[in-house]
Amino acid sequence: MRNHISVKIAAVAAAFIGGASSVMAQEATGEAEYMTACSTCHGAAGMGKGPLAELMTVPVPDLRGLTVANDGEFPLLKVIHIIDGRTGVRGHGTSMPVWGNQFKAEVEAEMGPYGSETYARGKILSLAYYLESIQEQ
Ligand code: HEC
Repeated sequence: MRNHISVKIAAVAAAFIGGASSVMAQEATGEAEYMTACSTCHGAAGMGKGPLAELMTVPVPDLRGLTVANDGEFPLLKVIHIIDGRTGVRGHGTSMPVWGNQFKAEVEAEMGPYGSETYARGKILSLAYYLESIQEQ
């Protein structure tokens, strides 16, 4: 419990560094990004029934059960690592894009390298907050 709270505080601090004004704003950004990058596989409601899901060789998980699977606590830091994909925490099979690199590359193409890492992390954090908001308790 204590650990979870300190992770949350760190995440909120990171959100401020990223320039976001509130957790609510993060969730809204995360939802928009989810619709663009994730819903094709995980489904519009996170239920794992996106149009690409049936083309995958591995089952696409329902993302609303992460809290239940983790004894009632949303595994925020783990989810951040899974989405990022650069830190070796498993979650996405090898056929999955590494979102950390992908988001960074998107920003670099538009604005150059300065700040692209911060921006990519902000996107990942927003996605994690959005996923937290759709958990079934
Ligand atoms: C190409 C299809 C595809 C896309 C697009 C995709 N995912 Fe996944 N995702 C998967 C598959 C398949 C798994 C299960 C991987 C495994 O078992 O190795 C998974 C697993 C996960 C998990 C771990 C779930 C668990 O129960 O441990 C999370 C969290 C996740 N995805 C979030 C996202 C987010 C956020 C995005 C958008 C940025 C995204 N995914 C985009 C196919 C996809």
